[in-house]
Amino acid sequence: MSAEQDSVFVRNFALVIATLVGVTVLLIVIANSVFGDMDPERQALAEERAEQNLSPDFAVRLSGEPAPAIASADSGADEGGVTEVRSGEQVTQAVCIACHQGNFLNAPGIGDKAAWNERIGKGWETLTQNVADGYGNMPAQGGAASEEEIRAAIEWMVESETGLEVPES
Ligand code: HEC
Repeated sequence: MSAEQDSVFVRNFALVIATLVGVTVLLIVIANSVFGDMDPERQALAEERAEQNLSPDFAVRLSGEPAPAIASADSGADEGGVTEVRSGEQVTQAVCIACHQGNFLNAPGIGDKAAWNERIGKGWETLTQNVADGYGNMPAQGGAASEEEIRAAIEWMVESETGLEVPES
């Protein structure tokens, strides 16, 4: 490269840098004229938002105190967090259906009146216990549903769907 080529390069390079600096300054001027004089109402709102975001509700809990209740559709569960009990149909659809829909392992089918009629005589307590602990071909379901939910599931699967009535025991 000759010395002349060098100086041409340096000149062009300086020109490019100068242009970029010019564009930057122009952008700063434009940005300032658009956002510079933020109206006080917006300013106040922004400050309020910032304050809300920093409020203790969103702070990290180190003390183990319970989390603030989260608003849910079912606001019945407000105190001390959310404890949701599923309905009998929900439990059946989530847990029991795997076997009780298609007579898997000879499970009595949902709404199968004849099959359930032979079993309901055992009464609520035995049936609920058998489901929770496992019975014959049915593995224990206690880990998948609470006793309350199991009872609700039996209520739905047996009583609502067949019209039978399980006696209290
Ligand atoms: C892995 C398959 C499977 C799942 C999951 C399952 N069951 Fe069963 N269930 C069976 C089988 C098989 C039987 C028949 C057991 C037997 O008589 O040997 C049965 C029997 C029953 C009985 C009659 C028990 C008795 O004492 O005669 C009830 C009530 C019952 N199931 C309810 C439920 C409920 C409620 C759920 C869901 C929470 C559930 N089952 C989930 C397979 C299952």
